[in-house]
Amino acid sequence: MPIPSDHITRRRVLTRSAGIVGFIMSGLLTHTSFAAFLSKPTPRQSLGPFFPDDGDEVDAIREDPNPDLPISQANDQDLTFVKGRKGTAQGQVVYLRGQVLDAKTGQPIPNAVLIMWSASATGRYNHRGDDGTFNFAHPKTGVIIRRTHDEHFQYWGKAVTTEKGEYWFKTIVPGFYPIDLQAGLFRPSHLHFKILQAKSPAFVTQLYFRGDHIQNNALNQELLPNDVVILDAGLTPEKQERVIVDYAPDPSGKIANGLIGHYNFEIPS
Ligand SMILES: [Fe+2]
Repeated sequence: MPIPSDHITRRRVLTRSAGIVGFIMSGLLTHTSFAAFLSKPTPRQSLGPFFPDDGDEVDAIREDPNPDLPISQANDQDLTFVKGRKGTAQGQVVYLRGQVLDAKTGQPIPNAVLIMWSASATGRYNHRGDDGTFNFAHPKTGVIIRRTHDEHFQYWGKAVTTEKGEYWFKTIVPGFYPIDLQAGLFRPSHLHFKILQAKSPAFVTQLYFRGDHIQNNALNQELLPNDVVILDAGLTPEKQERVIVDYAPDPSGKIANGLIGHYNFEIPS
């Protein structure tokens, strides 16, 4: 009996993923190999209104059916497809990898839980609270962007750090989105994080995108210094740099279908 084509595709995806995971993890730098640790703590930023809480989501994506798990922790670290659905997320694929480190000592924090969530490629959250302007004009080109729900985007994921404090995520570049069209206010593309670990309360922040290959890169860089969340957090230009991740094609060519960014979270323990 022939194997259905989507079965083959999914199996290929999984096989390829296994190779990519090995490659991603092997490329990590280990901070402890440096003699001195120059601490640059990751600045905190607000949680925002769209954290994935049970009951708030429009589309309850739960790849792990364990009912005791909060929905924010019920998915894996590849957000580019939803298990059991045919198709892949819209948008530009990116890999983010790095470590979670103790901001004082530079030591890796194992078993930290990273919850990451974001808008879709068109800037729409999977959250009932995201019911604002659904269509808007691109502030540079005037092209109408429709903030649509993407049923193939996983919207949130969870990674648990290794003994070396390592983590990785595969996702798409979220769309920038309007927060006040009349005032011309947009949020640049960003990823939200909540990091849970044993020794201290949850650490919450957001990371931004930069790179010649990132869609709308120039616009994103223009929006960053005036972003409401960045201003609200009181981030100086130096601290803003600490939450911007540079993405570039894989120089080895092993990952052909995405850009790679590296980021170490330095958090209080
Ligand atoms: Fe957001």
